[in-house]
Amino acid sequence: MPQTPPKTAIDALVFDAYGTLYDVASVTAICDSHFPASGAKISEIWRQKQLEYTWLSSLMGRYQDFWQITAAGLRFACGALKLELSEETFRLIMENYLQLDSYPEVPAALEGLAEKMPLAILSNGSPEMLIKVTQHNGFNRFIKEVLSVHELRIFKPAPQVYDLAVRKLGVAKEKIGFVSSNAWDAAGAKAFGFQVFWINRFDRHPEQLDLPPDHEIRTLDQIPPLIF
Ligand code: 2OP
Repeated sequence: MPQTPPKTAIDALVFDAYGTLYDVASVTAICDSHFPASGAKISEIWRQKQLEYTWLSSLMGRYQDFWQITAAGLRFACGALKLELSEETFRLIMENYLQLDSYPEVPAALEGLAEKMPLAILSNGSPEMLIKVTQHNGFNRFIKEVLSVHELRIFKPAPQVYDLAVRKLGVAKEKIGFVSSNAWDAAGAKAFGFQVFWINRFDRHPEQLDLPPDHEIRTLDQIPPLIF
């Protein structure tokens, strides 16, 4: 008889927000409407620079919240592409970040998982950004806690960020399933001691940090068979 693989014992699931639940590339449309044919490139540089600025600001001990970091990333992306960014266009594009779409399978996956265990978000996002995008997608019904790094004034992958979920949920780290499509975030969560689900939506190459995720899957709806 074929052996059934053992299920991962999980008491709570904690989700990264940007790039995992919310599609950061959904800003491409508004960027394209202001800068025809440059939307995808802006979105790509913007996201990369946004992440780099979180790491730099943590290492320099100069915390700026994620809204400021995101704004700086957008200004960098347009500047690097030699695109003139008026203050009005800047404001409109930034507002769109509060209304990012979720990936298609996410609403139904969260709904099903929320019936079984507490779900939380743990994100670099500032509290206001997270509340707005979560409300925009109607996920408040499923998410018990929206946790932001803001109170710690440092970004992922600082271990104290992951520990915030342990403290706020009152669940041991070994019993927390951490779900992220950001490979570096998955590695940080593994280093901390979570059970890690890496959502590799775009067939990315894994990090080479000797911190492999416990599970590599493509979409959130592949989680239930691994834990139930
Ligand atoms: C988040 O913390 C890293 O963007 C990612 O939501």
